[in-house]
Amino acid sequence: MKHWHIDQVAWDRFDPAKVDPAVVPLVKAAAMVERNGTDYAVYLNRVFADDPDFRKAADYWAEEEVQHGDALGCWATLADPAWDYQAAFARYRAGYHLPLDANASIRGSRTGELIARCMVETGTSSYYSALGEATQEPVLREICRLIAADEFRHYKLFYDHMRRYLSRERIGMLRRLKIAAGRVGESEDDELAYAWHCGNEAAEVAYEHDRCTALYMSRAMSFYRFRHIERGMGMIFKAVGLKPRGRLSDLSAKGAWRLMQWRQRRLAARLAA
Ligand SMILES: [Fe+2]
Ligand SMILES: [Fe+2]
Repeated sequence: MKHWHIDQVAWDRFDPAKVDPAVVPLVKAAAMVERNGTDYAVYLNRVFADDPDFRKAADYWAEEEVQHGDALGCWATLADPAWDYQAAFARYRAGYHLPLDANASIRGSRTGELIARCMVETGTSSYYSALGEATQEPVLREICRLIAADEFRHYKLFYDHMRRYLSRERIGMLRRLKIAAGRVGESEDDELAYAWHCGNEAAEVAYEHDRCTALYMSRAMSFYRFRHIERGMGMIFKAVGLKPRGRLSDLSAKGAWRLMQWRQRRLAARLAA
């Protein structure tokens, strides 16, 4: 059962005067990635082929991700009635493929797969929290709040299954840290950059990874506040088995915050040039 339904959103409260034009392209890109959740569920079903409980949970999870895509797509269509959500998503699907034929996790173990999923949910929960708190448009605020709540629950779902597998697979701390850091680093891979391209650029424009990453990331990063990074760092620490609150997590959050600000300035400067 989904925790909310797209029809429950108060769409009639949409206020075009409060739409920040800088947010609309971000929402369009996010809609692409979220809507693609079913593909990831196909992959998870293969990786966890003999675990019916997890497979069922993964299918419910994907339904929620698809609803995130549809809610964001619906909002972006209100903000920009000329935008064609279905056509943009069809382009994304045609050009971006997950490794659906895998029989084992690309992370080397099921524990690793679930740690990587925890990283993704850490990223999405903080992103929608940041975006929702920054926007003045009431419908987007509501959607972001609902989506962020789902993403926190998704983190918990993958975390609980990860603990179960960890007791069997006994992956060492360093290995877990490496997987977590690797997945965080992948946020600048094609998944988001290509989503930006399909959501915001005409089909005739050639896809360029670096340009699309700079366009997406420089805007997305500008909405974060330190509290989002701090909470996210606690979630990362918890997923790899470190104390979520403490000196080390505190220092890492401050370091990550500075790194993000530096990266955002650098990407913005590259675009300006
Ligand atoms: Fe989502
Ligand atoms: Fe999620």
